[in-house]
Amino acid sequence: MNDPALDAATESGITAETSSGSETLRERALTALVVARERTTLLTGCVEEPDLTAQHSPLMSPLVWDLAHIGNQEEQWLLRAVAGQEAIRPEMDSLYDAFEHPRAERPKLPLLSPTEARGYAADVRTRVLDVLERAALHGTRLTEAAFAFGMVAQHEQQHGETMLITHQLRTGPPALTAPDPEPVPLFTGPSEVLVPGGPFTMGTSDEPWALDNERPAHRREVAPFFIDTTPVTNAAYQAFIEDGGYTNPRWWTAQGWAHIRGHGIDAPLFWRRDGRQWLRRRFGVTEVVPPDEPVLHVCWYEADAYARWAGRRLPTEAEWEKAARYDPAGDRSMRYPWGDADPGPEHANLGQRHLRPAPAGSYAAGESPLGVRQLIGDVWEWTSSDFLPYPGFRAFPYREYSEVFFGSEHKVLRGGSFAVDAVACRGTFRNWDYPIRRQIFSGFRTARSESV
Ligand code: AVJ
Ligand code: FE
Repeated sequence: MNDPALDAATESGITAETSSGSETLRERALTALVVARERTTLLTGCVEEPDLTAQHSPLMSPLVWDLAHIGNQEEQWLLRAVAGQEAIRPEMDSLYDAFEHPRAERPKLPLLSPTEARGYAADVRTRVLDVLERAALHGTRLTEAAFAFGMVAQHEQQHGETMLITHQLRTGPPALTAPDPEPVPLFTGPSEVLVPGGPFTMGTSDEPWALDNERPAHRREVAPFFIDTTPVTNAAYQAFIEDGGYTNPRWWTAQGWAHIRGHGIDAPLFWRRDGRQWLRRRFGVTEVVPPDEPVLHVCWYEADAYARWAGRRLPTEAEWEKAARYDPAGDRSMRYPWGDADPGPEHANLGQRHLRPAPAGSYAAGESPLGVRQLIGDVWEWTSSDFLPYPGFRAFPYREYSEVFFGSEHKVLRGGSFAVDAVACRGTFRNWDYPIRRQIFSGFRTARSESV
């Protein structure tokens, strides 16, 4: 942005193209940081100290590690990279570097105590609010449109989801409660929707807070295909189980079969058979598996096997994004299935408002122009695609966010879950994980090619 008039306009509070109402970029960044910290405070304040320092699963960090890591990332990007300040405690960087120390080893590190970690994160935040008041929100890629502030808020919210996964893995009495989603009548609309073939714009170049792997916007050719109107439900998934889905190698890839046999997997994580019905443990409460809710805690191998059993397949990542963003009337890609407006509670189940997915068919106001529902929120949806860079990808601002994960060992998940905040969820947002992962809030929908 070299035009001084434009700079002045931004500074005097002209809104960013995509921001809602009359909120300025500075207010938007402030709100995002405050909302993220409220989440972190709740997730680390609802249990006693031993539960913060314990490792509830070797797959996860102790909650107190997430807390100080959140503060350390904020310090590195906003106090040092943006504001040029000195390190508050130089030893923090390596202690809370996710690459230096795998999750399983983190409890053995000389971590800050809960009191120290809270103090450190709060100290960083106080200084950041001071920086935010005065920082120029333009001039460099890091500061343009308050990108670094948005990135740090997204990072904290991503760890908010990670910490909620830790809470789900934790055993013992419940520490968290939230109201259930509104009940809805059983969904009776069409089970699948035809997405027309042809090119569409995938990814983005102008969403201010989009992360490097979502960029740049590029054209993708997609052949016509059908996609499920809603995510696959527990009832549908139970039919797969009852039909011997887990005992017939025919539905599984060789790797998937080896994995489920090797690990004794015969149902989604947290499920337990009780006579003729299935029970599940959810945030410390055991309940009957609700039939009309999207299935949760399945790995990519299970999603892939179910789809084959159903005579279908997982959508590719490009198919998923076309279903989620393409508006045939305007022949363009939108930010969300419902249009360009930021997500509201009427559109999607996001932000830990509820501690479970909403029944299939919920959120009519959030459906895509073609009528596909619940693409955003509820459950992360496995796609068939490997996590790969888009043509023209450039790592920014650090290689360790996305670039080091590109390749065939990670599968892409799309759409966000009930556990992720709207700030870290868009029609272009890309998540990824190993195909064996099930502790994440993962589900899926299926697709099929149009065959005449
Ligand atoms: C994008 C969810 C795969 O949790 O590993 C957090 C997000 N990156 N801190 C992860 C992230 C750095 C990342 N995922
Ligand atoms: Fe992190």
